[in-house]
Amino acid sequence: MDRREFIEFLGYGSFALAGSQLISSCSSTSKATTFPSINPTLNDALELAPGFTWERMISWGDKINATEYFGHNNDYIDYIPLPGKTDEYLLWVNNEYVGPLMPIVSGKERTKENIDIERAAVGASVVHIKKVNGSWKVQFDSKHNKRITGETKIPFSNNHVIKGSNIAEGTINNCSGGKTPWNTILTCEENYNYCYGDKSFSGEEISPAYDKWNKFYPNPPEHYGWVVEVDPVTMKAEKRVEMGRFMHECALVVQSQNGLVVYSGDDARGEHIYKFVSDYDKNLSKGTLYVADIKKGKWLPLDITKDKRLEKFKTQKNVMVYAREAAKIVGATPLDRPEDIELNPINGDIVFTLTNNKKTNNHHGKICKISENGNYASTDFTYGELHIGGEEGGFSCPDNLAFDKSGNLWFATDISGSKIGKKQYKSFGNNGLFVVPARGVDQGKVIQIASAPVAAEFTGIKFSPDSNSMFLAVQHPGETSKSKTNLTSNWPFGGNELPRSSVVEIKSKFFQS
Ligand code: FEO
Ligand code: CA
Ligand code: CA
Repeated sequence: MDRREFIEFLGYGSFALAGSQLISSCSSTSKATTFPSINPTLNDALELAPGFTWERMISWGDKINATEYFGHNNDYIDYIPLPGKTDEYLLWVNNEYVGPLMPIVSGKERTKENIDIERAAVGASVVHIKKVNGSWKVQFDSKHNKRITGETKIPFSNNHVIKGSNIAEGTINNCSGGKTPWNTILTCEENYNYCYGDKSFSGEEISPAYDKWNKFYPNPPEHYGWVVEVDPVTMKAEKRVEMGRFMHECALVVQSQNGLVVYSGDDARGEHIYKFVSDYDKNLSKGTLYVADIKKGKWLPLDITKDKRLEKFKTQKNVMVYAREAAKIVGATPLDRPEDIELNPINGDIVFTLTNNKKTNNHHGKICKISENGNYASTDFTYGELHIGGEEGGFSCPDNLAFDKSGNLWFATDISGSKIGKKQYKSFGNNGLFVVPARGVDQGKVIQIASAPVAAEFTGIKFSPDSNSMFLAVQHPGETSKSKTNLTSNWPFGGNELPRSSVVEIKSKFFQS
């Protein structure tokens, strides 16, 4: 069966799919792999199943040029080819948030000096990488290394003016993201309220600014919570207003016959899954934002010209700025904290995680899917559940996802640091990295491959350009620490060292099968 026949066999014949996005499990070269496993542990170490090894690539605080350093709490990882080179790349790494550890370093007092240190630690880092003697190495002396931070001035798309300005100060809380076919990165602003609070359309405060950045930088919360498109070569950036404002977790870009489609989740209790259907194949400047009604299997447009109930927002721009409020008015389904979203390259399904929600008594989360009805731009879909977290499922609190070139599903868990090893989370140990084989005797089983250091989660799961390695971010090790002299993790350097979020290369022959 060739790839085209296989796609038609699966019922995806009418899809216009980007050539690299779907693979055929009927391929004669595909083999079933039996993966080794690891037991859960509470050790302060990056532990791996037999046959896997790791090497540190870069850590928070490493100097990347004369004036800048690699940011804090690394999350989304991607890369683009370095212009003019065939085997060197620009590695993009999101630097998500300050968290409890950073103020131990910057100082807990909310002074301008301390907040400035924190603003420079978030955003994203771009570093030049190449393979040297079989390992991917950061080129620390490269002129291509650079940052975008909580201080960078970034315009809104289409020159929109939001709360008096067409430019926002900084990108913050950069969680997961995506990459466009024209090699720009979509970096997603998630828990912006920690820095700048949040307000409703009517102007009420709906969240305080826990980290109090607004004490010295009174920026409107409406300037954050966007998908930011950045060219990693030039660092030209734009906040994409047409994709709506909420606590954007991720941005999965999929090609449909009706233009590009970008899926994104809003990671908060009772929030939603959205998709943006672009009017174009080659840019994201115009399109329609939809939100999911999971119960009815419908994508509901957030378009003031199509839904009279949205007229209270007066303008389409306001519908985008207060997308969460608009989503509830049109009847979006409240979900248990949507995290990552990925495309299943074997059958074309959109796979996503709902991590947990104590308010709905969902302590362990699940991995779910959306099967679009005919085309990624479709307004109808079928919802399904693939893996349920808990003792029987063998994992708890799924978050980041990735499919490898054989169609195996890899995912990482994110039990909050304060709950790891306690009560209903006891048996799961530290957070982990898991694989679900696509075929073979272990098809569909959840197998633990790695265990994270104390209080850390694995993020940014990304296969290397040659598919022989996995780039993996280890985020927030030791974030349960109370002080510099009372650290809960010393990973990766050991001794009495501060824990440092880091990107590692995981090597294994299992990635080559
Ligand atoms: Fe930054 Fe929802 O994870
Ligand atoms: Ca996440
Ligand atoms: Ca999470």
